[in-house]
Amino acid sequence: MAIEVSFCTEPDFLRIFAIISDAFAGDQPYMDTMYPNHHTDHGRSEGAERLLHMKCTDATNRFLKAIDTGTGEIIGQAKWNVFENGMPEQTKLAGSYWESQDEKEYAEFLYEVCLEPIRRVARSAEGPLVVLDILTVDPKHQRRGAGRMLVEWGVKMADEMGAEMCVEASVFGRPLYKQNGFQDVEHVEVRVPEKWKGRPKIEFTFMRRAATSGKMNSGLN
Ligand SMILES: CC(C)(COP(=O)(O)OP(=O)(O)OC[C@H]1O[C@@H](n2cnc3c(N)ncnc32)[C@H](O)[C@@H]1OP(=O)(O)O)[C@@H](O)C(=O)NCCC(=O)NCCS
Repeated sequence: MAIEVSFCTEPDFLRIFAIISDAFAGDQPYMDTMYPNHHTDHGRSEGAERLLHMKCTDATNRFLKAIDTGTGEIIGQAKWNVFENGMPEQTKLAGSYWESQDEKEYAEFLYEVCLEPIRRVARSAEGPLVVLDILTVDPKHQRRGAGRMLVEWGVKMADEMGAEMCVEASVFGRPLYKQNGFQDVEHVEVRVPEKWKGRPKIEFTFMRRAATSGKMNSGLN
C-alpha cells in the first residue's frame, strides 16, 4: 500500500503524539522525562496539546505526517525545524506536567544540555539550518519506507534552500540518516550532576549533513 507525506493539521495531533509515545515506548528516558505519563490517555492528550502549541507559536516548526493511502491511517510523523536566520533564544520549559520540582528541573536540564550541539552549529551557521527534531513511525508500520520518505522530504527542502542539516540520532534513526548524507560528528553521553546520577543514561549520535554547496560550517570542529 502506498504512503504519502503531507503537513499535519490540528486534528492530527493526538494521533501524532500517540505514534511518538509508542515508538519511544522501549528504552527512551528522554521521552519519559519530557512527557511524563505519555503512555496514558491524559499524558497523550497533554502531549498532543504541547505539540500543537509548538506548531501555533513557533514558525520554524514543520510537522509532517506519513499516511497509508489504503487505510487513511497516519503511520508516522516528523518534526523539522527550519532556521533561516539563526535559532531563537531558548525558552524555559513551560507548564506543570511534572510530579515534583526535581522532575521538572531534570527535564529543564536535559532540554538545555541536549540542544547544545545544535545550538553550537546554529551559532556558527553562515546560512540556513534545517534540524530534524523528532522522527517516529508507529511500531506496527515500521520498515515500510515511511521513515525514509519523511527524511527525504526534509533533505529535499534543505537542498532547495542550500541549508545545512543536523540531527541527534538514535541507534534506529542513524542508518537512515547515513543513507541520506548525514555524517557522525560525535557520540554524546549526557553527563548529569551527582544528584541525578542514578537516572537512565541519555545518549545519541550528533550528525550533520553539509549544505548542497558542499560547505559545512565549522560549529563543532
Ligand atoms: C527510525 C524510524 C523512524 C525508521 O522508520 P521506518 O519507517 O521503519 O524506516 P524505513 O522503513 O523507511 O527504513 C529506512 C531504513 O532505515 C534503516 N532502519 C530502519 N529501522 C531500522 C532498525 N530498527 N534498525 C536498523 N536500521 C533501521 C534501514 O536501513 C532501513 O532501510 P531497509 O528497510 O531498506 O533496510 C523508526 O524505526 C522509529 O520510529 N524508531 C523509534 C524512534 C526513533 O528512534 N526515531 C529516530 C529518532 S532520531
